[in-house]
Amino acid sequence: MNRLGVDFLGFSLKNPIAAASGTFGFGKEYAEFYDINQLGAVCLKGLTLHKKAGNDGVRIWECTGGMLNSIGLENPGVKAFIEEYEETQARIQTVKIVNLGGDSLEEYVEGARLLNQIDIDILELNISCPNVKSGGMLFGVSEDSAYQVTRAVKDITRFPLMVKLSPNVADIAVIAAACEEAGADGLSLINTVQGMAIDIQNRRAVFDNVYAGLSGAAIKPIALRMVHQAAKAVNIPIMGIGGIYSGRDVLEFLMVGASCVQIGTAGFIRPTKLMEILAELKAYCEENDLFLKEIINII
Ligand SMILES: Cc1cc2nc3c(=O)[nH]c(=O)nc-3n(C[C@H](O)[C@H](O)[C@H](O)COP(=O)(O)O)c2cc1C
Repeated sequence: MNRLGVDFLGFSLKNPIAAASGTFGFGKEYAEFYDINQLGAVCLKGLTLHKKAGNDGVRIWECTGGMLNSIGLENPGVKAFIEEYEETQARIQTVKIVNLGGDSLEEYVEGARLLNQIDIDILELNISCPNVKSGGMLFGVSEDSAYQVTRAVKDITRFPLMVKLSPNVADIAVIAAACEEAGADGLSLINTVQGMAIDIQNRRAVFDNVYAGLSGAAIKPIALRMVHQAAKAVNIPIMGIGGIYSGRDVLEFLMVGASCVQIGTAGFIRPTKLMEILAELKAYCEENDLFLKEIINII
């Protein structure tokens, strides 16, 4: 009797907790701390068609209630990822979500086409990275471009397609609906919120790119509001993301309409934090005679 089981894009997840893209690498480092296959799913580090070295200067900055990052999608590129996929596949036995970014529509499509060669479970389309100069978030902040990139990738991919949305928009419901109309099978939200940090000694912005992405506890209320709005606007399932630090936080996201969640920054507090959250969730469900499926989208 698994109280934590949820359904998502045709998969029966053993629990609703997934590691968030970019905060878990390809699972190697965390596998030294615990059995990562206890997670419901794992979202791998964001890939782009071509290798990216990432941004210069400061990349991570702790702030009250979370952190700012400006990694700039450092990754080995889709081809190198595919060449080494056997090792990743052997390590990750739970649901595997591959996150794909791009600088142009053509890059997204070519990346998705190449990924068809390997066996992944879900393709997460990152149209919301705030830390790259071209592409990235630009696709996720306009209804038209969100529609076009979703449509183009949906046409080529053989995997269920989940589109990852940016919180840096005026109306998330409009973008969510455009992605659904374009054929997205699911949505994930939110990516990081654009923020800034100042080095007062040197009287300059901390980050070379000036703005960076805020994640962690500080963004949870924003993420809850946006998941709620998106859930009201679409009929496709949602993976909720943003500032989840406890089992109770997971319950909040399910109640506002997420079928499952991703957790990122909390894992930087302690490497075993995701397992602690999972244990809390399990204890809550047992104490309250609750099956998680009962509370999804009740608010
Ligand atoms: C260091 C770092 C790297 C990230 N890299 C990616 C990425 O490659 N692709 C992506 O879609 N999101 C990326 N994100 C965003 C997270 O997946 C997540 O949406 C965000 O951090 C909010 O969740 P959290 O508050 O639980 O961390 C990154 C976040 C952080 C902190």
